[in-house]
Amino acid sequence: MTAYDFLFARLLEEAELDIILVGDSLGQVVLGHDSTLPVTLDQMIHHASAVRRGAPDSFIVVDLPFMSFQINTEEALRNAGRVLKETGVEAVKMEGGGPRACATVEALVTAGIPVMGHLGLTPQSVHALGGYRVQGRTQEEAARLRKEARALEEAGAFSIVLELLPTDLAAEISEGLTIPTIGIGAGAGCDGQVLVLYDALGLNPGFQPKFLKRFAQLHDVALDGVRRYADEVRAGTYPGPEHSFQDS
Ligand code: KIV
Repeated sequence: MTAYDFLFARLLEEAELDIILVGDSLGQVVLGHDSTLPVTLDQMIHHASAVRRGAPDSFIVVDLPFMSFQINTEEALRNAGRVLKETGVEAVKMEGGGPRACATVEALVTAGIPVMGHLGLTPQSVHALGGYRVQGRTQEEAARLRKEARALEEAGAFSIVLELLPTDLAAEISEGLTIPTIGIGAGAGCDGQVLVLYDALGLNPGFQPKFLKRFAQLHDVALDGVRRYADEVRAGTYPGPEHSFQDS
């Protein structure tokens, strides 16, 4: 699952998840943007540092945000290096699998920076892809995705996120690789799964893509708690004597 702050990171570590992802989805679920594009490297570092403090013993992967790795390999090295040096996390995630992206992955891996790839619906390319929709439905797209997955593995990626792919294609790609795939909206044939924490815990009631299962209803619980607090403050029943300090 993803995490963006100290307390939820501590909770994910307590639940013994295999990997915590500090996703650039924080642009939407934490910062209220309508895409991941405005997210900056400094924001990723700020949140990843909090997640590191909350989950000191977990394997943490941090997204390289839009335009932090696309310009050239040197920029990518400098920025991925900042992520590891300034936050103490173990790895970065990078979208894309074309020749330029793979050359960058190879340079990062050569520098000792573990890289998770990300194929399919790559949200940083939402405008080029024409929206948030399932990828790999045509033969050409499917062939390109198979090729990019192999190329990422050859470039040294230790794992690949597959987002919004038909189940059969994601399963076929997963079987053809030696590194694990992590699916989101890509069916049960991937080696692992990832979900945005706030979506999975039901904090975002308006967001209901087909792939999303809500494992808790935190919006309702939190709304009820906030309303009861306000009611008790207005009624003068909170704070009571048991919540108040006496003279001696
Ligand atoms: O940013 C993110 O949270 C992600 C996951 C949805 C894979 O990239």
